[in-house]
Amino acid sequence: MTNNTDVDLQADVPNSVTPPLWLLAEITYQCPLHCPYCSNPVNMEETFNELSTEHWERVLREAREMGAVQLGFSGGEPLLRKDLEHLVAYARALGFYTNLITSGIGMTEKRIAKLKEAGLDHIQLSFQAANAEVNDLIGNKRHSFEQKLKIAKLVKQYNYPMVLNFCITAQNIHEIEDVMALSEQLNADFVELATVQYYGWAYENRDHLLPTSQQLQEAEAAVNRYRAQQNGKGPTFIFVSPDYYESRPKACMNGWGTTFLTITPDGSALPCHSAKILPLRFPNVKERSLHDIWHQDFSFNHFRGDSWMPSPCRDCDEKDKDFGGCRCQAYLLTGDMYKTDPVCSKSPDHHLMKGITDKAGTAPSKALQYRKVEKPIPILEVSATR
Ligand code: FES
Repeated sequence: MTNNTDVDLQADVPNSVTPPLWLLAEITYQCPLHCPYCSNPVNMEETFNELSTEHWERVLREAREMGAVQLGFSGGEPLLRKDLEHLVAYARALGFYTNLITSGIGMTEKRIAKLKEAGLDHIQLSFQAANAEVNDLIGNKRHSFEQKLKIAKLVKQYNYPMVLNFCITAQNIHEIEDVMALSEQLNADFVELATVQYYGWAYENRDHLLPTSQQLQEAEAAVNRYRAQQNGKGPTFIFVSPDYYESRPKACMNGWGTTFLTITPDGSALPCHSAKILPLRFPNVKERSLHDIWHQDFSFNHFRGDSWMPSPCRDCDEKDKDFGGCRCQAYLLTGDMYKTDPVCSKSPDHHLMKGITDKAGTAPSKALQYRKVEKPIPILEVSATR
């Protein structure tokens, strides 16, 4: 790995750092599903040292004081925290718009009613496929499809906007028309047809999961055909293709340390959900205030501005649009977090993308790995008053 030692890394940190608008609270990495495309870290040591309810209250308070408005409760499966309803109510009282990002496993009518009472604004329900066989196989959990159908009905019954998320992989992309038909049948309002991004477990399993270029083109054409016959009725479908086939990188996180703040189950504060893989030391909310972390920490300031950028980003007239792409992706693909994201056709490493995409649809050399946690999960201690 090389370090970009020829630039002064602190020289171009913007004077006025804007507040984090989006707080992603990964309240647990525990999960009843085992999806091989999970973006959680492969090494989930945080699972064994989760923040307490009181820690989360402080995080929410401090983030709101800094100006954060959107809050996502995520995981793992956030329903596995018994204090979820309490945290939702707490966040709502602070003025957050609250989102629950869930597989639906563990949801009951009693819980959805309690979450409504707590003021939860929005539920995003994930599906693995449009039929029980593939859905239950991908999540490696029997009867999970049946449970998701029940929860989808409850989401409607309790007057939430129905937002579905289907993770699209080589295993289910050919069924995208069934996915859209199911979404319509469930009266979904918004449906994200999101081709998996390759981080965490998804990176480990990439050769199994990555669709071919032709599969993607066919899927996108199917989505466009479906949209054309909707006549403005039914769900809004958002098709997200993987950046591996693009020639310009995504503006990951809208720029490092500008908008998004992720707190992991053990309290690590990160500029993106995947940053822990990088050779940087990240701060922990148990030790420092969020304000201090966001404004002062070396890791958060490290990729702010553009003085860290190598050529060709440094002189590129698109650098304010894509910020040099994704730091985690640059690290995963080249072993150097300072490099231009290889997705960019101007990157000297762009040939790596062709090497990967050419292999899509061929037999992977290693077996598919289901997401798993090695050690037993401790019982969560919730304050007696919750
Ligand atoms: Fe970490 Fe893109 S996912 S910077």
